[in-house]
Amino acid sequence: MRKCTVRAGSNIAFIKYWGVADPALNLPLSNSISMTLADAYTVTTVAWEERPAQARGEAPDEIVLDGVRLEGEAAQRIVAHLDRLRALAQVDWRARVVSQNNFPAAAGIASSASGFAALTVAGCRALGLELSPTRLSALARRGSGSACRSIFGGFVEWEQGHDDTTSVARPLFPAEHWDLHDVVAVVSRAAKAVSSAGGHQVAATSPFNAARIASLPPLLATVRDAIAARDISRLGPAIEQDALAMHGVMMTSHPSLLYWQPGTVEVLHAVRRWRQEEGLAVYFTIDAGPNVHLICEQDQVGPVVQRLQQLASVQQILVSGPGPGPVELDEHLF
Ligand code: PMV
Repeated sequence: MRKCTVRAGSNIAFIKYWGVADPALNLPLSNSISMTLADAYTVTTVAWEERPAQARGEAPDEIVLDGVRLEGEAAQRIVAHLDRLRALAQVDWRARVVSQNNFPAAAGIASSASGFAALTVAGCRALGLELSPTRLSALARRGSGSACRSIFGGFVEWEQGHDDTTSVARPLFPAEHWDLHDVVAVVSRAAKAVSSAGGHQVAATSPFNAARIASLPPLLATVRDAIAARDISRLGPAIEQDALAMHGVMMTSHPSLLYWQPGTVEVLHAVRRWRQEEGLAVYFTIDAGPNVHLICEQDQVGPVVQRLQQLASVQQILVSGPGPGPVELDEHLF
């Protein structure tokens, strides 16, 4: 039995990945930039049983996520990823995977990013595959696009690329570069009607999609420069603009994806009020869900959390700073 356990952080995108040029390879329509999170992570143990799995129909891969055994379709996306790893190592072994998130599934933090990053690194290491971080990034991308960014710590850019090997993430700055925080305001725990995987495929049906993509090069440059200069007053407006542009695309695609809930709008208005009336340096971004990520420097976290607690629609608050890339752990989950 070959076993490996890895912890990988989720990430929050400042310039979003939305829409695919190639749904099989998860090739995006543009670059994206994110921060890997220290305090929202997945721990995954992968064990390979070194025996041919001709009988895999009888004894399929065993996958347990947050204590629940995944069967059928729920397991399929992970089995497909395990198949990629098996093909690389040229083996036909059965896998046992146990994975644990330290954050609630419906908290609006991307568990697919940390999950597929941890699965890729643990799975490859347990197979004895020595892949460079860049190759791991390409492989993680096949599982979930945003997972390619969680292969690196700190501030990360995913290069759009044009094929399987060129569409990879690269580190911009390590986590120590800037003590930026993500304060997640959970306003709804309702399950998503449409997953991001489904959403990427319909992005191009929005008349605004092409305009958003065309607007990104200068916005990406602003975000890169603002991170380099640790300048929240330049970063903030750019991330708000792209989050709203992405949701404009979502709302106007076919089918229309309306992820916002009343609480989402309450938090968006509050953030702008705190900035304008109280001078708080806090800005928002929103992923494919109703919850709002508030981005601020460390010294603003206290005042932001205190104000969020006063809002009727905020059910839970999660805080994370920037974190490292995947880390191998000595302690296994089984
Ligand atoms: O990796 P996916 O397919 O779950 O897509 C992530 C999409 C967003 O979270 C909305 C944006 C992003 O870049 O993380």
